[in-house]
Amino acid sequence: MDCETILLVAGVFMSEITVNGGRKLTGELNIQGAKNSVLPVLAATILCKGECVVHNCPRLSDVETSVKILLNLGCNCVRDGYSVVVDSRDISSYEIPENLMREMRSSVVFLGAVIGRMGKAVISSPGGCELGPRPIDLHLSALRQMGVRINEEHGFLYCDAPEGLKGTEINLSFPSVGATENIILAAATAKGVTVIHNAAREPEISDLSDFLNSAGARIYGSGSDTIYIHGVEHVGSTEHTIIPDRIVAATYMACTAVAGGKVTLNGVMPSHMVAILSAFRESGCDISVTGKSLTVSSPKKISRIPTIRSLVYPGFPTDAGPVVIAMLTKADGTSVFVENIFENRYRYIDELKRLGAKIKTEGKIAVIEGVNELSGAGCKCTDLRGGAALVTAALSAKGTTTIGDIHHIERGYEDIVGNLRQLNADISIKE
Ligand code: EPZ
Repeated sequence: MDCETILLVAGVFMSEITVNGGRKLTGELNIQGAKNSVLPVLAATILCKGECVVHNCPRLSDVETSVKILLNLGCNCVRDGYSVVVDSRDISSYEIPENLMREMRSSVVFLGAVIGRMGKAVISSPGGCELGPRPIDLHLSALRQMGVRINEEHGFLYCDAPEGLKGTEINLSFPSVGATENIILAAATAKGVTVIHNAAREPEISDLSDFLNSAGARIYGSGSDTIYIHGVEHVGSTEHTIIPDRIVAATYMACTAVAGGKVTLNGVMPSHMVAILSAFRESGCDISVTGKSLTVSSPKKISRIPTIRSLVYPGFPTDAGPVVIAMLTKADGTSVFVENIFENRYRYIDELKRLGAKIKTEGKIAVIEGVNELSGAGCKCTDLRGGAALVTAALSAKGTTTIGDIHHIERGYEDIVGNLRQLNADISIKE
């Protein structure tokens, strides 16, 4: 790594966000493209024997890591503003280097696409991450059922499909988003039909299928719990626009609710946010939806939510849990959050408590006792959404909050500081 990169990397790791809380938010924001859609769609371009243009790609470190993976595989890949242009015709490798696998755990979603295109793949087994072990057993067992041989040695997965990928019926014991995506990517050009039972229903799955179908794939039922993929010989060029990020939208809603004020978010898809909108309405926010815009107005006092549970889609999304919990730290009573998706999603709670939040956690339960006031303090991000929760709480805390390890936030939020400043927050980033 040259010294400039070292300084850049060090800079990101040394940067801090500073928030002087207490200002009401007001104004409008355009919501970025969905991180959790652009990653599998960029992986899918590996299958495409032609140039693909993917629009509405947010500027995020996870997206840049995906671009690095494509380049490393020998694909031609350039960013042109908010579009990424990928031409995989000259793909020459089937190995994803360990450093890139470690940079982004969700790079496991490249596995199905690389095997689908190259007939083999070598990836380092993705370590656990800040959210607990996050195994990939469902991904691997599904790929094995499709004819992939997988050997795990010295922390690497050596995969190949000597007879090619074969369509089959797969029943997921849990509707894993990543496993559903990997199966779709492996099945798109497999021989025969693949049926996924108990598939994930998240909007990002439908976005991936829309991308692939526009390139010539034959995928039916995405968005439901049963998906049919009729393998085709060839998928080619296409142009696609990524759906908006429903979790980023929920984040700015929580910021507005807890700081007070009225904010309009443009370029959202309210139909992807039904459970999110319901939770914010239950907390006393006034939300009006007009086409692809929503306006959130904060209540005088946040109402407690007696019980809120994270569930698979279309239930309340686990990724919106941290920012809603941050909002509920200022509620008029005690709320209970039940985290049903990840084992270890509460690591940021101790950091929230440094701002005066009163939260007790026990396993998957978090009990949030509303307080009248939070007070600024020094804290550090533990993960992507936990970091967003700290920013959310800091907007309403009395005094100054400094937030370290913001590289976590930069994985999923494009210019959160610039966006919040645009909404009148007193927030800055110190390199
Ligand atoms: C995707 O992660 C998202 N990431 C996550 O967003 C999101 O929280 C999650 O889906 C649930 O909606 C991306 O899309 C890049 P899962 P993924 O497979 O695919 C267990 C964010 O903040 N599991 O649905 O990893 C797993 O341990 C991130 O943007 C297995 O046991 O989620 C977890 O408990 C965080 N074996 C649960 O299933 C497997 O093989 C949900 O995982 C796979 C998963």
